[in-house]
Amino acid sequence: MFDLKDKVVLVTGGGGLLGEMHSEAIVENGGKVIVGDLNFEAAQKVCDKINSDKAFPILLDVLDKKSIINCLETHPDINVLINNAAIDPKVTQDSGPGGAFENLTEYEWDLSVDVIMKGTFLCSQVFCPVFAEKGGGVVVNISSVMGVIAPNQSIYGDSFKPITYSAAKHGIIGMTKYLSTYYAQSNVRVNTLSPGGVFDNQPEEFVDKLTNLIPMNRMADKTEYKGSIVFLCSDASSYMTGHNLVVDGGMTAW
Ligand SMILES: NC(=O)c1ccc[n+]([C@@H]2O[C@H](COP(=O)([O-])OP(=O)(O)OC[C@H]3O[C@@H](n4cnc5c(N)ncnc54)[C@H](O)[C@@H]3O)[C@@H](O)[C@H]2O)c1
Repeated sequence: MFDLKDKVVLVTGGGGLLGEMHSEAIVENGGKVIVGDLNFEAAQKVCDKINSDKAFPILLDVLDKKSIINCLETHPDINVLINNAAIDPKVTQDSGPGGAFENLTEYEWDLSVDVIMKGTFLCSQVFCPVFAEKGGGVVVNISSVMGVIAPNQSIYGDSFKPITYSAAKHGIIGMTKYLSTYYAQSNVRVNTLSPGGVFDNQPEEFVDKLTNLIPMNRMADKTEYKGSIVFLCSDASSYMTGHNLVVDGGMTAW
């Protein structure tokens, strides 16, 4: 029931850290993956790494409906959509002060909220009616623990996790509920995956502070969401729709 051999999956933002893992998981379980990214080189690199005739890169801007329609026309057999693209400023050694609520500009709001929410809206608007017409499909929206709880700003040093990320990630969970009920009778299942923080060589001080907030006392390895992706895309979750699957080492249980 976890077999993905009949699934053709578009991963938006597929060239990024987790997009690569989602794409790998799909091919490892028999599916075909279309790795869509604004950064075509990154998408190409992911496909090169997967090294399979079941992985195809495509230039995709989730904020451009024409680009999304081009993706559908190029791969009309897509029957699963993973809305994964986002702009999420990473915590790095070089992160300076930023993200403070009082100083956040409208430009920063538009950029971050648009990629996450408008991108999910536009991709869903293009693909869901096609899935419904064809008798079914699956949508997996990627939110975050930050779609469930507020960021604990004390872990970010002299910068802040911006309100845009909270707003958009909470919004994704609402969009999932809306779309899941809207398309429930068309056999289009829509769920959310909310991952916790992935270890990616962040500064030690940040990692220490964050892991103190996680009952399992560690960040996720980037491979640890692959199982959930396979579950949500496959028939193993055939009676699940409108759900938010939180995979966070227990962070939101505290
Ligand atoms: N990494 C984490 O710790 C973590 C934790 C929880 C949730 N998430 C969520 O998982 C998803 C993937 O995160 P990630 O860490 O892989 O991020 P990432 O920054 O590594 O990848 C995001 C990708 O989206 C692409 N992108 C940006 N704008 C785009 C657009 N307009 N059209 C198409 N592609 C676009 C970027 O080029 C990039 O390749 C995001 O939704 C993120 O919010 C990540």
